[in-house]
Amino acid sequence: MAKSKRGKIVLAYSGGLDTSVAIRWLNETYDLDVVCVCVQMGAATRDLEASRKKAIKIGAVESILIDGQQDFVDYFVWPSLQADALYEGQYPMATSLGRPLIAKYMVDVARKTNAVAVAHGATGKGNDQVRMEIGCRTLNPKLKIVAPLREWTMTRDQEIDYAAEHGIPVEATKKSPFSIDENIWGRSVECGMLEDPWNEMPKGPYTWTVEPDEAPAKPKYITITFEQGIPVALDGRKMGGIALIKTLNEIAGKHGVGRIDMMENRLVGIKSRETYEAPAAVVLHTAHRALQSLTMSKDQVRFKYYVATLYADLVYNGLWYTALHQDLMAYVRSSQRCVSGDVRMKLYKGSATKAGVKSDVSLYAKSLATYDIGDTFDHKAAEGFIKLYGLSAQTQALLQKDALGVRDIKTSVVPPTRKY
Ligand code: ARG
Repeated sequence: MAKSKRGKIVLAYSGGLDTSVAIRWLNETYDLDVVCVCVQMGAATRDLEASRKKAIKIGAVESILIDGQQDFVDYFVWPSLQADALYEGQYPMATSLGRPLIAKYMVDVARKTNAVAVAHGATGKGNDQVRMEIGCRTLNPKLKIVAPLREWTMTRDQEIDYAAEHGIPVEATKKSPFSIDENIWGRSVECGMLEDPWNEMPKGPYTWTVEPDEAPAKPKYITITFEQGIPVALDGRKMGGIALIKTLNEIAGKHGVGRIDMMENRLVGIKSRETYEAPAAVVLHTAHRALQSLTMSKDQVRFKYYVATLYADLVYNGLWYTALHQDLMAYVRSSQRCVSGDVRMKLYKGSATKAGVKSDVSLYAKSLATYDIGDTFDHKAAEGFIKLYGLSAQTQALLQKDALGVRDIKTSVVPPTRKY
């Protein structure tokens, strides 16, 4: 290990071109020694032990590989599933959930190594810079934060030249035009030809899911068991979270399930075209909601979805380490006390649908719902109920007859323009 009297900076290191160049750039620009942190969160494609070693070759004084998969699943993924957290109704937030955990590790390593600053490889246009920096600021406001990609003016080609001049190994000079981030909960793919929203996603960039129309012609049925909103078994087999998610990514991916293609509103004001592959997340969110619809009251479900939107925005916007997050989570946890049971899911050519659901604490009372014999519903009570439930509407329709115009088919939709 190189010895030096310089101060240290902790860099969240991915092994890619940007953060590799950043090691030497931080040495030169800030006269700081670089300690790299590589975080394993279940990304399937990158050899992070190789990245860890590469950082040392480039000039880091220390390089640490942290296996964050268990923390990620236990404290980030499962709570977000219990919360039904889908940003703008669709995105399960693999990337958004990973960033605050990376920030936590950066701050921990900074403390252990007496570093004065932290750095990351996020650009100035995205959400990731916000998540990592607010994460670091809330966990240790004394640390300085450097975002090399916001400071340097190098283009990609200039970065490649810089790497050559500094003896930094660069795997491929011809980079895929897509920007990809992945962890166990999903894969985010953006940029390239996707920047035109009219362009359909080509086959190439998706690697976890098959084309839905090339998926098996026979549907696959699986059963997921939940205990208080957390999946604990697959087809009756008890499984830890990491294994369950990885298995489900594979099974559902084979059936083309988990593709998301959306126009997304970034926190920094940019509307952007984002595509995701999240087979396990899509199946589990769908199954979780199905189980909640069986085990939660109407009012609980309605309130829950209101909280889910708030919670997803909060996570997406990088406010993980906040009091409001804890408050919302306290509600979410409480709401899950009866969300236990089995959901049978059908995976078929890109779709994951609920085939069946059951629970020991189900709120479904067949004797109330049935149209067959054994009906216990009090039909006579319905008459009085309707009278009172509709009383306000009936009274208003009568007393404001002309202003409302609800008795005419046209003005029942758009009221008459006459002023009162
Ligand atoms: N739009 C997503 C988010 O903000 C994904 C970002 C992906 N990041 C990346 N480096 N490609 O969470």
